[in-house]
Amino acid sequence: MLGNFTYCNPTKIYFGKGALDGLKAELPKYGKNVLLVYGGGSIKKNGVYEKVTAILRECGKTVAEDAGVMPNPTVDKLHEGIERAKAAKADFILAVGGGSVCDYAKALSVSVNCEEDPWDKYFTRFEEPSCELVPVGCVLTMVGTGSEMNGGSVITNHEQKLKIGHVFGEEVFPKFSVLDPEFTFTLPKYQMVAGFYDIMSHILEQYFSGTDDNTSDYVMEGLLRSLIHSALIAVDDPTNYEARSNIMWTATWALNTFVAKGKDTDWEVHMLGQAVGALTNATHGMTLAAVSMPYYKHILPYGLAKFKRYAVNVWGVSAAGKTDEQVAREGLAAMEAWMRKLGLVMDLTSLGVTEDMLDDLVKSTLYMQGGYKVLTPAEAREIFKESL
Ligand code: NZQ
Ligand code: ZN
Repeated sequence: MLGNFTYCNPTKIYFGKGALDGLKAELPKYGKNVLLVYGGGSIKKNGVYEKVTAILRECGKTVAEDAGVMPNPTVDKLHEGIERAKAAKADFILAVGGGSVCDYAKALSVSVNCEEDPWDKYFTRFEEPSCELVPVGCVLTMVGTGSEMNGGSVITNHEQKLKIGHVFGEEVFPKFSVLDPEFTFTLPKYQMVAGFYDIMSHILEQYFSGTDDNTSDYVMEGLLRSLIHSALIAVDDPTNYEARSNIMWTATWALNTFVAKGKDTDWEVHMLGQAVGALTNATHGMTLAAVSMPYYKHILPYGLAKFKRYAVNVWGVSAAGKTDEQVAREGLAAMEAWMRKLGLVMDLTSLGVTEDMLDDLVKSTLYMQGGYKVLTPAEAREIFKESL
């Protein structure tokens, strides 16, 4: 492990059946006015809303609501939320939902008291907050993004055809997150498996970088094996608590900054996926699934040793009597077969992308420096085209 780092994760986790009781311990630490943030209504159908609001009442909070946070939350919604938070004099933001709701709550946290335009400051100039923040807590209902234990916030600006993530520092991490695997049981299968692939992608974005012998890579191989195993169980038996709880915890560790320590990281699959998201509003995990195979096949020659290691240590491919490239390609083939078993979307056409969008997709793509190959716009175009 050759990199230097500091490590601190300030988010307290309440995990497991009945974890929502943790809210009773946490809420008294914050002011009286709570802004309850949630999405399009799933929490009202599955009973989570009732449970959360009962605890808010029990804790004597004055509650204002900011509902309707859409998947891939937009900058327009953020402006609406800022007005609601100000009107409610919010002391605390409680996010109840998936990554979109948690991300949005963090964007709100840094924007309520911000005197500049938050899109320009945080998502264009990537500045850090200089205003007073409104603290955030999360009750997670969809697994995948890791937003419950990180500083990430991804906001979409349809006008500018951009979907941009800002990874904020520790002060923006949720103060606490409640993770009850049973709260995720009502997810439609499409969302559930999209989340599974998001986890896979987060780990791979960090794994496929660097050439040093690094503890983080060994940790990631363990997380990947657990995910691959449990996802196959959950896809046939979505209410299997053991599988869903393993996946929930793997998702958190996949992107709570721990496995990135001491390493470079890539994130180019996410950049390609976010360009697709900006233009189509497609489900995040599916945008990643659709571009991954063409991307990894393209960069494999530049990171051959790591792709071979991935094949052997994660997918159990035997290296005996084969060239490194054969082993590496067998690993990707095993990964592709797993993706198809889960029912992931494997092409951009199914997500609404057409060939005439290729130029805009390339323009919306950011190019990262930490992977095995820095893509050129022409290569990105080729990968998008192969993904159609
Ligand atoms: O809005 P509701 O009605 O709640 O429905 C949601 C939404 O339609 C539904 N859902 C969530 N929990 C449910 C449920 N339906 C039934 N039962 C439940 N228990 O699922 C749909 C998708 O939810 P969403 O929050 O959009 O999904 P996800 O968690 O995948 O979040 C996606 C967003 O997170 C960003 C993505 O770009 C995207 O904007 N990301 C955030 C990251 C971070 N903070 O570090 C990293 C990721 O790479 C990602 O970019
Ligand atoms: Zn992701």
